[in-house]
Amino acid sequence: MSSSTRTPLIAGNWKMHKTIADAEAFIGALLPRLSSVETVDVGICPSYLALQAMVDSTRGSRVRVYAQNMHYADEGAFTGEVSAQMLSEIEVGGVVLGHSERRQLFGETDKALALKVPKALAAGFEPILCVGETEEERERGDTERKLRHQIQEDLAKVPEERLAEVVIAYEPIWAIGTGLTASPEQAQEACAFVRALVGQRSQDAAERVRVLYGGSVKADNAAELLALPDVDGALVGGASLEAEPFAAIVAAAGA
Ligand code: PGA
Repeated sequence: MSSSTRTPLIAGNWKMHKTIADAEAFIGALLPRLSSVETVDVGICPSYLALQAMVDSTRGSRVRVYAQNMHYADEGAFTGEVSAQMLSEIEVGGVVLGHSERRQLFGETDKALALKVPKALAAGFEPILCVGETEEERERGDTERKLRHQIQEDLAKVPEERLAEVVIAYEPIWAIGTGLTASPEQAQEACAFVRALVGQRSQDAAERVRVLYGGSVKADNAAELLALPDVDGALVGGASLEAEPFAAIVAAAGA
């Protein structure tokens, strides 16, 4: 199966940006710019507070709304957390799990992610699982070891027949928000490695799973990255905050 049979996904991770009013203005500017690109899945990842408004404003469009995190329990004494059931109620389509900022700043663990990923699938969400190495790990030659550890642990409880439903975003931590993009060779090598790791569980899943690249993707470098055989889309931070560059990245994925 060639990469052309996997529908590209461009997802904008807004992080802690955009009020509801900002999000509404963005989506009003984005939707008309998407009409000519029909072969690309598009996602936005607003803050929890803007999720409901974005679900309402994107209904009937190709834009899927993803939460940026989720707890694995149905309910309980977990102050500040949000469950899959709560997200289902407002018809969220997916959830970003294990973003490096959650891992590094908020103590997200592989142990928790091993519960979150299957929980998200069971709730009917598309999980976007983020993995990636630090600069130090890359310099030490530990990139593959880190990716193997994260993929094996975080997907351990996902049944083989559902593996292909998980989207995996390879995001080298040194490239996030730094303006330093991985070279096409680095991105291709790591995304192919991620796919091969999935292939150790199921060859069929490896062929179908979407692997995204993330880390300083911009309108002017997107085409080169998205043309790589094992890169099936992008998780975009900074360049997803304005409709125009984000739409340009979507267009590059559809080219
Ligand atoms: P960036 O963020 O595009 O601003 O580097 C990517 C991400 O954190 O997903």
